[in-house]
Amino acid sequence: MSLNDVYKLTPTEELWAVPQSYDTVFDWSYDDSRDELIKLYEKGKTQQWNATHRIDWDQELGEDNPNGVPDEFFPIFGSDIWEKMSDADKAVTRRNYQAWTVSQFLHGEQGALFCASKIVQQVPDMEAKFYAATQVIDEARHVEAYQKLLKKYEAAYPITGPLKTLLDQVMQDSRWDMTYLGMQVVIEGLALAAFAMTRDLATNQLASQVNAYVMQDEARHVAFGRLTLRDYYPELTEAERDEREEFLVEACYHMRDRFMAKEVWEALGLPVEECMAHIEQSEGMKLFRSNLFSRIVPVVKDIGLWGDRVTKAYADMGILGFAQTDIDALQENDDLVAKQFDERRRYVESVAGEARATAAE
Ligand SMILES: [Fe+2]
Ligand SMILES: [Fe+2]
Repeated sequence: MSLNDVYKLTPTEELWAVPQSYDTVFDWSYDDSRDELIKLYEKGKTQQWNATHRIDWDQELGEDNPNGVPDEFFPIFGSDIWEKMSDADKAVTRRNYQAWTVSQFLHGEQGALFCASKIVQQVPDMEAKFYAATQVIDEARHVEAYQKLLKKYEAAYPITGPLKTLLDQVMQDSRWDMTYLGMQVVIEGLALAAFAMTRDLATNQLASQVNAYVMQDEARHVAFGRLTLRDYYPELTEAERDEREEFLVEACYHMRDRFMAKEVWEALGLPVEECMAHIEQSEGMKLFRSNLFSRIVPVVKDIGLWGDRVTKAYADMGILGFAQTDIDALQENDDLVAKQFDERRRYVESVAGEARATAAE
């Protein structure tokens, strides 16, 4: 089955070609002295998994609320539009919004696949090339997993304008660190926070599990960006760092507008302006949108892009407090949650096995 059969709005083009111009760099030193990167590469190799087998794809999504996320977290919850809707219309709206979210995850993962492969070629050091190579297969697996999951909603949405613009910018920039900054720091940081919301709020096992497994990998990808950029940025001039900060600020403002789901309200024939106005002023949605930055802010501080421009913008956005987040603790937890899903499945299978054996006696 192709997604073309279930797109609710037609993508503007069937294939999107982004022109590239950058140097592919060979490293003849074969230096492997950057221990932390080598350790991360080892972890990347040992934590590989197969999306075909690790997830039981026979599991189904919910009928009226596929992910089983409480309505309080629904963007137009509490609006007149929502209150007047029949139960059947609410079910359609939930399904479409959740499919829209997974669609953006899927398109973002495709972008990550290309950015990781671009890094393999561009980054000067061999240790970083090694690690990036493991990220390439991780991202292919994420595209595979979200693609399988999305088909279950029987609805899909094209990439949103803001995500497409940011991907275009990151892909076309010829400086290798900008690929990391745009992808490993901004897009993957944002994605981690968004995945966590589904992982932690969804009562549907499949929806929660897919996000938990992807997050286990994404935590390594964000660590990869941190380790590489933390060493590189102090070497730049103040003017060069300032340029990176300007990009960061713009990208963060830009991405904050990503979660308005305009396309959903449009596709369903709802009053778009009214929906957007509700989301704009809703306290719950403001909190949701600022939480999206919880994983980005501590990393930005850690890599040393912490000048006036960034701190002022983050203060304006009300997200400066996230700088105190213990990112290592969050990543350990991401790993733990994924392992708990494995344990649960092993337990369910052992109980089912025992039941079958008893029935056969
Ligand atoms: Fe990914
Ligand atoms: Fe990733």
